[in-house]
Amino acid sequence: MKVVVFTRKILVVIALFALIYGCSASDQSKANSGNKAETPASKQVSDTTLEGFRSQGKLIVKETYIALSSELQKAVQEGGIPHALTFCNTAALPVTDSLAKIYNVDIKRVSLKNRNPLNKADAFEASLIETFSKLSVADLSLVNMVVRDVDGFPVYAQPIVMGENCLPCHGSIEKDIAPANLRLIRDLYPEGKAVGYKTGDLRGIWRIRFNSKSSL
Ligand code: HEC
Repeated sequence: MKVVVFTRKILVVIALFALIYGCSASDQSKANSGNKAETPASKQVSDTTLEGFRSQGKLIVKETYIALSSELQKAVQEGGIPHALTFCNTAALPVTDSLAKIYNVDIKRVSLKNRNPLNKADAFEASLIETFSKLSVADLSLVNMVVRDVDGFPVYAQPIVMGENCLPCHGSIEKDIAPANLRLIRDLYPEGKAVGYKTGDLRGIWRIRFNSKSSL
């Protein structure tokens, strides 16, 4: 078991480094060719489709981010942070799901310290977050990954980084989150863990899973 996890990690790191240093497709197939024992979770997406999934993934993240943040801004303007908290509680997942239908993919925002239990990273997603967590803040805003998940589906992953504007809802409970808002957060998410972050922290990842029907 240990060996499998180790192999998976190494391959994810290879995928990430290939990305950071802009390795060509042939370099990536070289990196993978010596690894006959690779698990499905760690398989690199084939060279011909890799860039297609990457650009599609990037676009879907951008569109979903715009949809979510514009709705969030509207909610803050209408009724401040408390209203926006309730809005996120009921609307964040429906917004991502509606975009997922349009693009015929599965869209998730997952975290190791999640607020909504539905956004808890599974073991595969946690391994992607761990890989990103080794990078500097500057690199985090540049990187992404395309890998296959445990079921063999191509997955696009991109870090989610904390900004100043996230602090009223995810920052320090002493400094950033108003006591009334903290009470509301605890009422809505009794098991929530998504506080105590600072600007620049890795908050989680976007995880776009393509299915066999997705076209590039
Ligand atoms: C108005 C309060 C508010 C603000 C501001 C806010 N969030 Fe959230 N965030 C929430 C709530 C509430 C949820 C849970 C949504 C749900 O139930 O689906 C959430 C969920 C998330 C999730 C999904 C994982 C999880 O913990 O459930 C991520 C990732 C996230 N927020 C990142 C951010 C980032 C990055 C920013 C700043 C750009 C931000 N949030 C700003 C309230 C907020």
